[in-house]
Amino acid sequence: MIGVIFGPPGSGKGTQAARVEHELGLKHLSTGDILRHEVAEGTPVGREAARIMAAGDLVPDELIVDIVRRRLPEAEAGAGVLLDGFPRTLRQAQALDRMLADEGHRVGFVVALDVPEHDLMDRILHRAQVQGRADDTREAIAERMREYHKLTEAVLDHYRRQDVAVERVDGTGTPEQVFERIRGAIGLSSG
Ligand code: AP5
Ligand code: MG
Repeated sequence: MIGVIFGPPGSGKGTQAARVEHELGLKHLSTGDILRHEVAEGTPVGREAARIMAAGDLVPDELIVDIVRRRLPEAEAGAGVLLDGFPRTLRQAQALDRMLADEGHRVGFVVALDVPEHDLMDRILHRAQVQGRADDTREAIAERMREYHKLTEAVLDHYRRQDVAVERVDGTGTPEQVFERIRGAIGLSSG
């Protein structure tokens, strides 16, 4: 089972994917977490990505697709995978389709979290105070939102066109409430 957790910056993708991994056994694969690890380690990928990420822009598709291609087989070995932060452009979605088709697989469901924009800003600015992520500044947050609307939202239509179940889930309320909605949505879409 390959699922995608989708939503704007701060919508709770990482929070919920960690829970889904813990409770439902789908391996959480976050391209943002992988990139932040590369940046922290100072690898060539990290050096290329650091400034782009801090500005809130998207790193090049080829770089991200390469990262996913290398990690997907191991992640797929278990009960399934929940992709967080990928695919984020149409080209990434098409590359993922090809990668999966090579093994006779396809994306099974997409969970799209809906959270009003002012809540997103509040959540991320709150995190900025406790964690200090490099891209949690007002400017970078605004750029991440722009990139989301400009390039990422279209990925949902890509899946709708393929008749992949796209479940819109209300992402407001407590993390527990959101998780229960996701559990219900995944249950419905995976039959
Ligand atoms: P990425 O790490 O994916 O960041 P993002 O999409 O901007 O989203 P966040 O991680 O900020 O939010 P989230 O939806 O995971 O929410 P979270 O659970 O943390 O990407 C970062 C950068 O990496 C990109 O800008 C780009 O440069 C690069 N990148 C990554 N993938 C890429 C790709 N495929 N292509 C190109 N570039 C890529 O929650 C947010 C906060 O709210 C937390 O503090 C959390 O505790 C809190 N919270 C969660 N749920 C709730 C709730 N229900 N109520 C109140 N607070 C809550
Ligand atoms: Mg995240």
